[in-house]
Amino acid sequence: MNFTTDSRHEELRQKVRALVEQHIAPIAMTLDEKSEFPEEFLNVMKENGLMGLPYAKEDGGAGEDVLAYAIAVEELSRVDGGVGVILSAHTSLGTYPIAAYGNEEQKKKYLYPLASGEKLGAFGLTEENAGSDAAETETTAVLEGDHYILNGKKIFITNAPYADTYVVFASTNPAKKTRGISAFIVEKGMEGFTFSDHYNKMGIRSSSTAELRFKNVKVPKENLLGLEGQGFKIAMSTLDGGRIGIAAQALGIAQGAFDEALAYAKEREQFGAPIAVNQGISFKLADMATKLEAARLLIYKAAEKKQNHEPYALNAAMAKMYASDIALEVCNDALQIFGGSGYLKGMGVERRYRDAKITTIYEGTNEIQRVVIASNLLGRLKKGSTAPAKAEANSNKAEAGKAAPAGVQMIDEATLADSVKKLASILKAQFDFSNKEDIDIPIASAKKIIGIGQGAMNRENAARAIDNAKALGMAIGGSRPAAEVHHFIAMDRFIGMSGQKANADLYIACGISGSKMHMKGLDNVKTIVAINTDPDAPIFKDAAYGIVGDMNEVLDLLEAELCGKSDNDDNGGLYQCTLCGYIYDPVIGDPESGIAPGTSFAALPDDWTCPICGAKKEDFIPFGKDGQK
Ligand code: CAA
Repeated sequence: MNFTTDSRHEELRQKVRALVEQHIAPIAMTLDEKSEFPEEFLNVMKENGLMGLPYAKEDGGAGEDVLAYAIAVEELSRVDGGVGVILSAHTSLGTYPIAAYGNEEQKKKYLYPLASGEKLGAFGLTEENAGSDAAETETTAVLEGDHYILNGKKIFITNAPYADTYVVFASTNPAKKTRGISAFIVEKGMEGFTFSDHYNKMGIRSSSTAELRFKNVKVPKENLLGLEGQGFKIAMSTLDGGRIGIAAQALGIAQGAFDEALAYAKEREQFGAPIAVNQGISFKLADMATKLEAARLLIYKAAEKKQNHEPYALNAAMAKMYASDIALEVCNDALQIFGGSGYLKGMGVERRYRDAKITTIYEGTNEIQRVVIASNLLGRLKKGSTAPAKAEANSNKAEAGKAAPAGVQMIDEATLADSVKKLASILKAQFDFSNKEDIDIPIASAKKIIGIGQGAMNRENAARAIDNAKALGMAIGGSRPAAEVHHFIAMDRFIGMSGQKANADLYIACGISGSKMHMKGLDNVKTIVAINTDPDAPIFKDAAYGIVGDMNEVLDLLEAELCGKSDNDDNGGLYQCTLCGYIYDPVIGDPESGIAPGTSFAALPDDWTCPICGAKKEDFIPFGKDGQK
């Protein structure tokens, strides 16, 4: 180790610094404020050969070394940590596994476009139940003929949904645990492969992070990366390299904060002199600079060892852990030097303070880095002797008052109306619907809640569900995205880990998929009823009763059953066809189709169609509720 960079590295540093100062620095505040992905800057990086720095020229890369790549991430992050991670996730996580484990065909088809910057890459490992414990992957891949069929969900995926190529880990043999996990190259656009909205994050807001959803995605068997069962090792070895990138990102963020604080300390005068003359400030700066230098040496050493094909997992973990830990300290000190001004939105140091935090969390929390470092020092220790087994943990949970879910009773009668009738009779026997609550009673004290999720699709459907809640005398609540992203419900009504905790006896989850974050808010709820069009929605696992169907239809029918009247009594139960304008009147019914007078719209059979134009039931909306009466 030379403990120095050569002139080529320093030229690259100057080049990246100039590019990011020119293109990103002026808009960094806006990207952060609007959580906007800098798509145009990807072209700048591509044109300047930054998207495949450590890959060979014949593979589409720039033919530089791992250190050059680390320097590029550091310099991007010095201005904007979000931009730094776009390059890091693309290079280390999306591209590396294909470069290292891909066969010639895969390299030609996928590596070249990634390394040359034609395509953007991403890595899909993390799941709701497989974060630090990556071996708990629940996504499955089943070989059927010439394809693997992928089902499952990945969360917190950097560069999604903008990335084109995803290296995804799925279990091909769950019984074999880590040795049953395989890696696949999955392309955006494959049927059944969809994304969630991009998360609203605390920091690195110019990067994009979203969920990947796989529903019977047919991945050609040629897209298996490496061998079946080799996926966990591919993931682990990829993360070893990824950690160099995140360490460089942390260093860059902290360096940016330090540079600003140093300049400010020389400019800002108090007590008749620049604040830097006070040892309280100058010693802080001395400590900050020392930590940055130490982090830089750890990172560059790990990069050099990787480049020389020496074992480097230990060095990468040390670099990631140390650089991210000190990034928080340096950003904190930088903000302290700025005083009250640093606390204001729009200040670079405020943004960096938020950006730095993620670096101690992703690509392996710093606790996991310590596990990796310790196991490199001590060898792999025997597992399971101290950790309670899952079953034991469940029984502990039950003793603490929360029973493990007993299993959902799916209600699936001949028609949806029959299913709802059955559900209504179950609910009537257990809950008192004559005791009506206000719709906006505080979440914590509501006894019966209708929860709305993203499955409501639009505000009109959500408004219909809110009308049902009013009629049923239930409070309204829902998921965070339903409140924050789609504004279906007010922000003070969302339930979940980051929202409020419900203590209701009954929660009717409508169009809610059942993410862990939301379910955390339902820990104290006694009975969950799930209504979802997706029979595989995870919410069904936690519910007592479930109906697969459209939430609005189910709620209309439920209201009719439980309130003993039409869902739309306030306007005579009239519904209008949105295609031809025909109005269904329950007083008249639809005798030509065998619908007797007195039949509410909700009670019409599922396959009933408009007698004028043949439109389906779902094409009708309540007449008079949308201002058209
Ligand atoms: N390289 C190659 N193989 C490795 C390896 C490595 N670095 N580490 C472990 N393995 C192998 C082991 O040799 C073992 O192989 P055998 O079955 O043949 O013996 C196998 O993998 C299982 O090893 P362990 O028993 O040690 O695995 P474990 O289940 O105890 O997990 C862990 C170890 C280190 C905790 C691992 O789960 C881990 O790294 N967790 C953190 C996950 C993580 O970093 N996630 C980040 C997601 S990506 C991200 O965050 C990106 C972003 O947003 C930017």
